[in-house]
Amino acid sequence: MKKNSQKFKFNSVPNMGRGGILHTDFWWSMLPEFERINERLLKEIADHKAEVPETDKFSNPGCWRGYREYQDWHYIRDFVIHKLKLVHKHYIGIGAPCASLEDMPHDKFDFELWTNVNDPGSSNIIHTHSKWHWSGVYYVQGRDTGKIGFYSGPYLNQQIVKGLPFGQSFTVEPVDGLLLLFPSYLLHEVLVNSSSKQRINLVFNIKIDF
Ligand SMILES: [Fe+2]
Repeated sequence: MKKNSQKFKFNSVPNMGRGGILHTDFWWSMLPEFERINERLLKEIADHKAEVPETDKFSNPGCWRGYREYQDWHYIRDFVIHKLKLVHKHYIGIGAPCASLEDMPHDKFDFELWTNVNDPGSSNIIHTHSKWHWSGVYYVQGRDTGKIGFYSGPYLNQQIVKGLPFGQSFTVEPVDGLLLLFPSYLLHEVLVNSSSKQRINLVFNIKIDF
């Protein structure tokens, strides 16, 4: 007797469709000429911190925050916009419901920028940057200063089993010159800086005026 499955000709059915729910990615890239840029940034950030040593109430213990645009910020900003245009193009290419950024002028990208200088032993508790479109971090001094972990809500609620392509967690080991981009709703935390040097990065939120 034939097995049940042999009654069906599965290959004759139309291609599958896909609805994008819960799938989230973060993206990374290395900033071109980051060595030269970071050397300048380190000096400017040190001067900034010396001028404005007090931090704000949102900071985690051992973490200094400053608000200033540095000399090379526009170079980094343009690189981020360039990458975001490619990211959106990718999702349009795979049929995801995503708006094109191709012809979007740079002034339609509204950035909120701040600088973090996190001392050895410090960390950043789990949080999101919600109400923005994209968020990102650029590492001026990142190597060995603690991983950043990204989590889905279902993962934190222990609803995700091993083997599924969605809903998992990812950790990234930062290096100098690394740029990470992620949707602002994505939960993340920064693990303890167990090195003897400061973790120094630029963090930003982006709202796109669609
Ligand atoms: Fe964050």
